Formats: sequence, structure tokens, C-alpha cells
Amino acid sequence: MTLWSGRFSSPMAKALWDLSESYSFDHALYHHDIMGSKAHVQGLLDAGLLSEGECQLLLVTLDEIEAEFDRGIFVRSGTDEDIHMAVERRATELAGDVGAKIHTARSRNDQVATTLRLFTRDAVTEVAAATLELVNALIEVGAQFPGAYLPGYTHLQRAQPVLLTHHLQAHAWSLLRDVDRLFDARDRMNVSPLGAGALAGTSLPIVPAVTAGLLGFKAAFANSMDAVSDRDFVAETLFDLALAGVHLSRMGEELVLWTSAEFNFATLGDSFTTGSSMLPQKKNSDVAELARAKSGRLVGNLTGLLVMLKGLPLSYNRDLQEDKEPLFDSIRQVLLVLAGMTGAYRSMTFNTEVAEKAANDEMLVAIDIAERLVEQGVPFRQAHEQVGRLVADAIARGVTLAEVVAESLEFSAFDDVFEEGHALRSRTSPGGAGPAAASEQLQRLRTAHSEATTRLG
Ligand code: ARG
Repeated sequence: MTLWSGRFSSPMAKALWDLSESYSFDHALYHHDIMGSKAHVQGLLDAGLLSEGECQLLLVTLDEIEAEFDRGIFVRSGTDEDIHMAVERRATELAGDVGAKIHTARSRNDQVATTLRLFTRDAVTEVAAATLELVNALIEVGAQFPGAYLPGYTHLQRAQPVLLTHHLQAHAWSLLRDVDRLFDARDRMNVSPLGAGALAGTSLPIVPAVTAGLLGFKAAFANSMDAVSDRDFVAETLFDLALAGVHLSRMGEELVLWTSAEFNFATLGDSFTTGSSMLPQKKNSDVAELARAKSGRLVGNLTGLLVMLKGLPLSYNRDLQEDKEPLFDSIRQVLLVLAGMTGAYRSMTFNTEVAEKAANDEMLVAIDIAERLVEQGVPFRQAHEQVGRLVADAIARGVTLAEVVAESLEFSAFDDVFEEGHALRSRTSPGGAGPAAASEQLQRLRTAHSEATTRLG
């Protein structure tokens, strides 16, 4: 017998039960559900719907139930459809008639919305913290290879030399935006739906602002129908996680390239690589490949949720129960990838010699020659054309660009651009890839990191 069986004459068919039960996955919400119930019970006391003694008994009972979950000894009964029913059923077993008062002035519709907001609020904080750890790792790895540089690429063609710190910190900035987005989502979701009832509120004298305050929400809902049907916070969180996943996939792809024999810019520690079951020599960057791959399901989870929400009539519909698994999955996957990538970067050796040799590809100074001409007053487009011709000449004659420059009266004074590291050092503009701008960037990054850490709360 379910807790709502009063008006039914036959029990639920097994096929429907199997389709509709959600305990099998939503029991993961027990802590936040009980947190919500404890606030609700105090709200009922405040409203005069429970006596002080009843309220105390329910609070103790809820703590006891939570302890059962924590210790892994909570026993699901055959009628527990979902986590909410399970807790209420157990409260009634433990506290008798007083337990049967717990659902006064409440519906599972406002309850589940509250529980899921509380859960998501904590989860995004956890993801933000793990993301900040990865940012730390990127800063630290850069610091381990001071002054190291590599070619920066566009179109995956060597373009200009960049400091390793600059390259790694490019990823750090995108991760900090991910954190910022998670905090924004957290602010917006921080509104309590508790007290909205099934959809329209209640005749009983509860005050939603009271429970909102107890749960640390910044406000209570203004519209009960919106309160029970809004899952924007799940959609936003899934988007934020999907975009974080996309960022992580780009980092993953880069590590796959860097650790290939063809690039050989980096080596991952043995504890962050895997072997082959057949080929004894193999050392694979699976961690980076999985970081690259997980973005697929993260985007899928977001897409699935949006399609589920589309066209739903107000207010609560059982469809909404499908919000949980994608949310749980995305949170879990992103946390796994963040931990894996943080460890992988920390284990990474940067093969400075190889990367710098690639960055000292003489063709990468073509822009520096053109910029010298600009300093002498030549319009940039003409300078570009002239240097382009030098490059074409070198290629056609099978000689180096340096040789062509040395031969020419006009350009031979510029031959210092071919000195090792020159092209890197001359990237002097603010925010640029050379050493001149590096310390300012690092300082800004550290400030942004510490501001974000403060916002973690
Ligand atoms: N397990 C349900 C969910 O996740 C709880 C709400 C059920 N409400 C209802 N009226 N059937 O959405």
C-alpha cells in the first residue's frame, strides 16, 4: 500500500511500478530531503500546526532516519516509490501518529523541488571547488617549468611562440568563467519552493519565508505554480556542466596531442597513464581521452532535459522526475574528469627542449620582420606582402628564411629576430604571450581565483 492508496481499489501494476518508481536513483537525495523536512517541521511548529513536543520528536526521528542512510542500513519498503515516500513512511513507523503529520501542508511537488534545489546548490559548489583545484594545478605546473615556451597554434599550424604558463593559463581563464557561471546559477536557484504545496498553496497558516530562511534560501517563491514546475536551475546547471565539459575536452585533446610521439611536448606520470593489453611498449593518455569523450554525454544530458521540459503544461508533471538522472550523471562525470585532469597535469613533465625547438621554427619570426618594417613607417599591409615574398623565395630556393634575410640589403639589419627566444620576448603587449605580460596575468589570475574561492562560501 502506497501512502496515497486511499482512493484506489487495486494495487499498482508491476509494469507501472517499474516505470515510475524513482527511489532506485533519488535515494541519493536523502540528506537534502531530510534537511528540507526538518525545516518544514519547524515551519509547522511556527504555524501552530505542531506542538513543541511533536516538532522535537519529528526532528529527532528525521535525524535517526538520516543516520540509517548514512550507515547504509536504511531498509526500503516495497511501497517506497521515491525518497520522499520512504522518509515519510519510516518517520511514521518510528514516530507513529506524529510521523503521519509530517506531510501537513506539503506536497511531493514542492518537496522534490526544494530537495533538488538544496542538492544542486551544494553540488555546484563542489564542482566549483574542484574546478578551482584544476586552475591551481595549471598555475603550479607552469611554475615548474619557468620560462618554458612552445609554439602557439592557429588552425593547428605553428603560428607564434608562447610561454607555457600563458598557454596553460588560457585554459585557466575558461575554467574560471565556468566557476563564475556556476555561482550565477547558484544565486538564481537559491529561492525556496517549499510551501507551494501541490501547485496552489494551502489553506493552512504556513509561512514559506520561515522555511526559506531556515534553509538558507535568499527568498521564498512568489508564485506557487512556478515554484513546483520550474526546473530552470537544472537546465542551467546542466548547461554550465556541459560547457565545462567542452572546455575539459579541449584540454584533453591537447594532452593527447602533446603526449603523442609526433608532438612529444609532454609526458604524463605513470600513475596517470595506461598500458596496452597487447602492445608492451604502449603508454596511453586515457585520462585525456576520457576528458575529451565525456563532453558527449554532458551535452546529451542537457539536450535530454531541455527536450523533456519543452511543451510541458503548468504545473507539476511526472515528466519532471526525469530531471534527476541527467543531473546526477553530469555532476558525477564532471567531478571525475576534474579530478583526473588535475592529477594528470600535476603528473606532467613538459619536454621543454622539444617544445622550444618547435617554437624556434624560424618561420615563426616572419611577423617580427614585418613589424620591424612597420616601426620604420611601412604600412602593415605592404610589410606583410614583402615578408610574404621573402618566405616564398626561401621555400622556392630551398634555403632558410634567415639566409634570404641575410642576403638582402633591406632586411639584413633585422637578423637579430632569428636569435633563439627573440620572437617570444618581443611579444610585449599587455595580455600577450611573452614574459613581459606574464606576471601581470598571473597576478590577475590569482586575484580571480581567490575571489572565486571566497564565493565558494
Ligand atoms: N518522485 C517524484 C519526482 O521526482 C516526486 C513527485 C511526485 N509527485 C507526484 N504528484 N506524483 O518528481
